[in-house]
Amino acid sequence: MKFVVAIIQPDRLHDVLDELENRDIHLVTVTQVLGRGRQKGVSQVYRSHVETGNLLRKIKIEVAITDDFLPNVLEALKVGAQTSNIGDGKIFVFELDQCIRIRTGEEGPMAIGS
Ligand SMILES: Nc1ncnc2c1ncn2[C@@H]1O[C@H](COP(=O)(O)OP(=O)(O)OP(=O)(O)O)[C@@H](O)[C@H]1O
Ligand SMILES: [Mg+2]
Repeated sequence: MKFVVAIIQPDRLHDVLDELENRDIHLVTVTQVLGRGRQKGVSQVYRSHVETGNLLRKIKIEVAITDDFLPNVLEALKVGAQTSNIGDGKIFVFELDQCIRIRTGEEGPMAIGS
């Protein structure tokens, strides 16, 4: 299992969600976050309001998947979020040790999706 975290521009969220749904990936967590990349929040002012500490508003998307879905998730994130402008975001991929659906007690791949 894998855990994928992506930081994207807020105005790309709907496209990313559409691209994920097109690939049968429906279970996601979305959080509003603050962050900064290589430009330290400075040269992206035209795309986003700057917060204290040169932090910009971003969206964090988290998806837990079985390994076979990883290529589709990465493609959806890239297709949905890429504009080729500075600040498009970043994708982080983690190994996921365990997933438990609390209601049923299911574990692992049985608990992760659908
Ligand atoms: N190494 C990192 N560690 C933690 N968060 C990061 C890291 N790199 C990027 N981020 C997060 O991703 C957001 C978007 O990063 P961004 O796309 O600006 O990366 P970048 O490396 O500066 O690339 P670009 O040159 O395209 O702007 C940042 O605001 C921050 O929240
Ligand atoms: Mg940047």
